[in-house]
Amino acid sequence: MDHEFWRQRWREGRTAFHEGHPNRFLVKFAERLADCKRVLVPLCGKSEDLAYLAGDHDVVGIELVEDAIKQFFAEHELPTTSIMTYSDALKAYRAGQLKLIAGDFFATTAEMVGPIDGVYDRGALIALPADLRPRYAKHIRSLAPALRRQLVLTVEYPPDSAEGPPFSVAADELRALYPDATIELLASAPDPRGRANGKMIELCYELRFSSRRSTQRVMRPQGHET
Ligand SMILES: C[S@@+](CC[C@H](N)C(=O)[O-])C[C@H]1O[C@@H](n2cnc3c(N)ncnc32)[C@H](O)[C@@H]1O
Repeated sequence: MDHEFWRQRWREGRTAFHEGHPNRFLVKFAERLADCKRVLVPLCGKSEDLAYLAGDHDVVGIELVEDAIKQFFAEHELPTTSIMTYSDALKAYRAGQLKLIAGDFFATTAEMVGPIDGVYDRGALIALPADLRPRYAKHIRSLAPALRRQLVLTVEYPPDSAEGPPFSVAADELRALYPDATIELLASAPDPRGRANGKMIELCYELRFSSRRSTQRVMRPQGHET
């Protein structure tokens, strides 16, 4: 999926992935992230999950399409308190507990996101084709060397019953992508939209990362805003 694929979807309003309310698994399992101070939401769109998480955490979202971020702030009537420009293609909007970075996830750095200890992944890993998913997981770990917890929502469906995105990602693949995590399946349920001829299921995993890496510090230049 190249950038133009997603830009075009947002331009044409083909954003059925946008639920318009906090995700059912997030609402049920948000307490698994309770001890996380700063939660990263990769490929965040304009998800209501951002606002839900910001009730309890500092939240950093990353979204390719700047207009999606602008829509999020406008729909929540949140005035942005600062805008940081990293480059022509990367800028960050801040409002209260929320920092939303507009640009390519793979171009972001640990410095830009700050000291992340939790990740909430809905519609991110499964939005990417198989050849990009190892790079995605590696980048998550490099953005968040002190990661403790991750909630990952996936979908599964039989091959040939649908074309991604969303792509079917099985537990074995998740284990291979995050070999240093302890992985627990928290819940699974039929896709409420009945995709893949009613054969798609949604799954929610908790990934726990060992404290060995969580002792690493994210080095930032002094006085640098995160
Ligand atoms: C399936 S949608 C999920 C959005 C959101 N997580 C949600 O639950 O509504 C995937 C999102 O990832 C964004 N995206 C795709 N590639 C990206 C990239 N390389 N960097 C940042 N965002 C990207 C798309 O624009 C789209 O909004």
